[in-house]
Amino acid sequence: MQKVRKLTELEYAFLFTLRKVNSIQLEGFKSFFNNLPVDPYIKGNYRSRRLSRFIASRDNLIKLPHGYFSQPKEYNPLLGDIRREFAELDDALIELDIFKNLVLAFSDSCKLHPEAEIGVHQIRITCSHDNLGNPAPEGIHRDGTNFIGIFSVDRENVQGGETHLYINRKENPVFNKVLNPGELLLVNDHEFLHFTTPIQPIVEAKGTRDVFVLTSPSLLSD
Ligand SMILES: [Fe+2]
Repeated sequence: MQKVRKLTELEYAFLFTLRKVNSIQLEGFKSFFNNLPVDPYIKGNYRSRRLSRFIASRDNLIKLPHGYFSQPKEYNPLLGDIRREFAELDDALIELDIFKNLVLAFSDSCKLHPEAEIGVHQIRITCSHDNLGNPAPEGIHRDGTNFIGIFSVDRENVQGGETHLYINRKENPVFNKVLNPGELLLVNDHEFLHFTTPIQPIVEAKGTRDVFVLTSPSLLSD
């Protein structure tokens, strides 16, 4: 696993930013969220996901070998210190220009080092009348990385799912918003804790919330 290196002064200037990424036509992503494998590490079968890691070198994406995801217990009391393995992102998805644009938007916005590893989590949270979907079952937390990008792809028949950023657990969030499709929230993980509230359907049918979560470093190891 790449070490979480100390940030430079310039990087520390970056706290959080919300961007609309206009160069991305979201339709191209949608079909790739229909065949995500269920996340076996969370009870309830409401979260499904894939995960791959990349280096964004100049204007190119280089895909890195399959790895294992782990977060220290200090950051994830629910699943910390567990080596988790997820299926890789679909090759056809990775080849899309809109996918490359998304990873480069993250890398450019965070001014990442050219060799920095980027983990890309493709996640669908599903909810129904009887089962709320919980995007952050670990509660208010940090990921234990340097930078996080949450990119909203789709919200189908869902309410809730507000993303919160906190300076500490005792105070109200400094950011509180539903991320609408096309919006990318960039967060300095050293400065803020994050959380997303549960989702529930608007009408009595299945509801889904689709996102890409990007982190650097990736927290993946061989
Ligand atoms: Fe997180």
